[in-house]
Amino acid sequence: MTQATVSAAAVRGPGRAPVGTADVLVILGITGDLARVMTLQSLYRLERRGLLDCPVVGVASDHWSTDDLRKYAGDSIEATGEHIDVEVFDRLAARLTYLPGDLTEPDTYRQLARTISGAGLPVFYLALPPALFARTVRGLREAGLTDNGRLLVEKPFGHDLDSAVALADELHAYVDEAQLFRVDHYLGKTGFDELLHLRFANVLLEPVWNRHHIESVQLTLAEDFGVAERGRFYDQVGALRDVYANHLLELLATATMEPPAGRDPELIADQQATLWAAMAPADPAHYVRGQYEGYVDVEGVARDSTTETFAALRLDIDNWRWSGVPFYLRAGKLLPMLQTEIRFLFTRPPRLGSPRLGQQRPLADQVVVRLDPSAGLRLHLSARGDDDEPQPFVLEKEFGREGVSAPTPYEVLLHAALCGDTTRFSRQDGVEQRWRVMQPLLDSPPPVQLYEPGTWGPAAADQLLGPYGPWQPPWAEPTEVSP
Ligand code: BG6
Repeated sequence: MTQATVSAAAVRGPGRAPVGTADVLVILGITGDLARVMTLQSLYRLERRGLLDCPVVGVASDHWSTDDLRKYAGDSIEATGEHIDVEVFDRLAARLTYLPGDLTEPDTYRQLARTISGAGLPVFYLALPPALFARTVRGLREAGLTDNGRLLVEKPFGHDLDSAVALADELHAYVDEAQLFRVDHYLGKTGFDELLHLRFANVLLEPVWNRHHIESVQLTLAEDFGVAERGRFYDQVGALRDVYANHLLELLATATMEPPAGRDPELIADQQATLWAAMAPADPAHYVRGQYEGYVDVEGVARDSTTETFAALRLDIDNWRWSGVPFYLRAGKLLPMLQTEIRFLFTRPPRLGSPRLGQQRPLADQVVVRLDPSAGLRLHLSARGDDDEPQPFVLEKEFGREGVSAPTPYEVLLHAALCGDTTRFSRQDGVEQRWRVMQPLLDSPPPVQLYEPGTWGPAAADQLLGPYGPWQPPWAEPTEVSP
């Protein structure tokens, strides 16, 4: 039996989060994949921007020295494609210390306490599988390290509502919700910030951002690659758990929540949680599951797997702003392009029918916010054409490209955690609300349908939209699809 409400412990209490800038960063699991691919590169980029200002201690079970860690850091950062400036790297390397230790042994935490003794505000990054979270947090707590510490934990936050509640209960036994910083890298994306600004820094949009003017919303997260070497992980997860219960519902909340009611950073999380609370549980009758042909041949995938690599569905928000507006979402692997966007389709104007204004009915206006492959904004409007008929035209603005002119999401999140900016992290009440919305789809999934790589999923995904269709062609041009 799943819970429909969230526990009081799921909400950060006012003034309970340790305030201030971290004076040491401890990365538990520094020799793992996450650190190799993301964390070390983010530290390097923060160092380059002059935003790193504390020692970094790496802990893992490998019998390494600090010099080994420094060499590994250099190799890992280089392998991400980052150009290495030797002076910057030397500054980062000088911050690094390695502590070998088994995270299931209390002695490791005692040694860690000696290594960081004197630190007043440590940040612990659990770059570890969730199965190790509770044991690690207990070890930190028993060594007296958590009193004024923050803890960064990585998704997945459970695999359904019950397991998300159970995981949080385990963690709350040792630390307060205010100390937990849950990482969803989407919250560090440039497009998220642009969407927030677009909504709340423009008087043009807020008055029309509701059911009286918006007819439907389409959200697409398309990827032009398959699950490749992640088969073993992905086959246990599928699209719904991988990107819906976190990234897509976070994006939807940012696009639809009420403006924060004041300056307290928690008010943003409050508005998001209120928005998810207003969402009806998703209906399996409006859910299409797809699997790309050839998926079962990927290493690590069960030969008879029914895991979805594509999911399209409808969501509804039952509140005064959005009641009656359908939200259509689709996400999948091996689709025709790499593109994440949210598209608002406004109600269609009437046919004008005057000699000066033309005979044709103008198309609906659209606002599109793109997150990937780069952040951007597009407005679709109508203007006078050559023959006095309304013609669609587009105004667009590209924002910085992450990793090039804009910071990477992990860089943004790591910096926010070091500074104590809670607004970039998921709160447990939100995690539970999102699982509550998704739960009926997990409980009663429709059969999975095969689709050809390089297409937009099963044909049923097109029928899902009914009179609100078709799916609008995304902003990007199709690219070469590589399995
Ligand atoms: C991850 C998922 O969380 O997000 C991946 O596990 C997905 O399957 C990725 O590809 C999408 O994020 P980004 O930033 O790479 O577009």
